[in-house]
Amino acid sequence: MKLLVTGGAGFIGSHFIRYMLSAYPTYHIINLDKLTYAGNLDNLRDVEANHNYRFVKGDICDPALVNKLAEEVDVIINFAAETHVDRSIMDPGGFIQTDVYGTYVLMEAARRFNHQRYIQISTDEVYGSIASGAFTEGSPLQPNSPYAASKAAGDLLVLSYTRTYGFPAIITRCSNNFGPNQYPEKVIPLFITNAIENKPLPLYGDGQNVRDWIYVVDHCAAIDCVLHQGKTGNVYNVGGGNERTNIELTHLILNALERPASLIQFVKDRPGHDRRYAINDQKIHALGYQSRHPFDETLRATVRWYQDNLAWWQRIKSGSFQQYYSRQYSTSG
Ligand code: NAD
Ligand code: TYD
Repeated sequence: MKLLVTGGAGFIGSHFIRYMLSAYPTYHIINLDKLTYAGNLDNLRDVEANHNYRFVKGDICDPALVNKLAEEVDVIINFAAETHVDRSIMDPGGFIQTDVYGTYVLMEAARRFNHQRYIQISTDEVYGSIASGAFTEGSPLQPNSPYAASKAAGDLLVLSYTRTYGFPAIITRCSNNFGPNQYPEKVIPLFITNAIENKPLPLYGDGQNVRDWIYVVDHCAAIDCVLHQGKTGNVYNVGGGNERTNIELTHLILNALERPASLIQFVKDRPGHDRRYAINDQKIHALGYQSRHPFDETLRATVRWYQDNLAWWQRIKSGSFQQYYSRQYSTSG
């Protein structure tokens, strides 16, 4: 099988490429990535010499380039997106361009070359917040941030293509991922790296917001499962089964690093901050998917990875990240 993986230099996409090259030594992967601030070829150093792997720098919104690459492959798996909620609040335009228009460009190319499968990597954030219980794949989409709305718009476009053109798409909606190589604007790597540096951990609001955490390799296994066993036109939720309040999560990180609770700094809440995410993922389990990575153990392993790979994140944090972070705290801090 020949795959076009978009956004493969980011956090989840790079894990997925490594996972697939190892699980399927006969598959070929082209990685199309624009290398935005979040794209990082250091995430793929260990696979760049693999003869079944090729990197192409470019934009999923560029139809000429996307058509050229789509002609060479059987399947597109679309990870490429603007992904950070706080950035979407500051500057939504790029989210709409990549997460909606980019999805359209990819699907048009897949149709042109008569691909038999297309996978859209989406998020549980499209459902919005739920006080109790859990969203199923049939729950209405009620996104609350420009990021979540741009992903929901992409999902609706994909579903419209399945109904109108019989387009062979599948959508996955996963909960919050964590693991090595996650850009340190997201809460787990931000708090780990700040704690290593003895800097304050900025906890939004009352710290009682709940997220469901999944180790990134389990998400990759779920995508592998729907790629091979999923039914066209379907949506599959992928949960971690690890709901934690942000304050609980923060204490776990501080304990793993033996840092004091006095590093916690409660800051002004994120506007429109979703209180709780929770999804029912029975449907993907019925395909045979099982998550394999226990939360506490993989969180500790993730903490160790950031301790052992200071150069990876210090390079990021000393670059353009600083401007983002100071802008964030000039408005919300
Ligand atoms: P990320 O921000 O780490 O990586 C995104 C990648 O996409 C980067 O390499 C970036 O350079 C690339 N990119 C951005 N715009 C592009 C464009 N126009 N053309 C080509 N490449 C472009 O994101 P991530 O956390 O790895 O998320 C990957 C996907 O998974 C996203 O679609 C996201 O919505 C989804 N998702 C993420 C999570 C999570 O917890 N991180 C959970 C569920 C779903
Ligand atoms: P984040 O990693 O941005 O993921 P998402 O908003 O997509 O779920 O945030 C996870 C949770 O952590 C969310 O409830 C917001 C909170 N958070 C903080 O309290 N402080 C921070 O500095 C960040 C980045 C997030």
